[in-house]
Amino acid sequence: MRIFIDSANIEEIREINDLGFLAGVTTNPTLIAREKKDYRTVIAQICQIVSGPVSAEVIATDFPSMLKEAEELASIHPNVVIKVPLTEVGLQVIKKLKDKGIKTNATLVFSANQALLAARAGAAYVSPFVGRIDDISHDGLQLLSDIMSIFDQYILETEVIAASIRHPVHVLEAAKLGVHIATVPYKVIKQMIAHPLTDAGIARFLADYKAAFGQD
Ligand code: E4P
Repeated sequence: MRIFIDSANIEEIREINDLGFLAGVTTNPTLIAREKKDYRTVIAQICQIVSGPVSAEVIATDFPSMLKEAEELASIHPNVVIKVPLTEVGLQVIKKLKDKGIKTNATLVFSANQALLAARAGAAYVSPFVGRIDDISHDGLQLLSDIMSIFDQYILETEVIAASIRHPVHVLEAAKLGVHIATVPYKVIKQMIAHPLTDAGIARFLADYKAAFGQD
């Protein structure tokens, strides 16, 4: 499974990119708004840092405006992927952008049927929101499992991005299901890296070495 970061914060993205495993970035209007910077500038900066797909979401809700916005965002950098909410008009936009050679990420996906329709309309990626499903007492991981089995059965090329990740176990379970990508918030990436036994092991190795050979 590839790891993306779900962030629009340049410092976070730069720090995680330096760790060597980052394969892409997803943003959304909330994450962009949090940065209080020009949308296009943020996306352009992210594309300079990370070599991989960078999802940028359309804000408009009608077909012509969504298409115009998508084309403007796609012109920022070849790695920009257009995030399109899974609605009727969203499906039309996904199909149109596919015909124009622009990659899309179907977002706000909460059912396997939505994922199937997005794939059939030509989305390069679908993003089921695992955490938001859990929030309403449903099973986000079951949704991922259903989508993976449908996509495997029909050999669909669309890649699944486990989104709305809330903790490391979401990432672990998504990986066990064979999900292609997880887009993970900065805080959860840090939690995935840390382990108390690693810290304790380093402290013990250092203490033993110093006891045998002295300081430095
Ligand atoms: C995915 O692409 C979205 O940006 C994101 O994962 C949403 O997560 P949230 O439910 O934590 O806002």
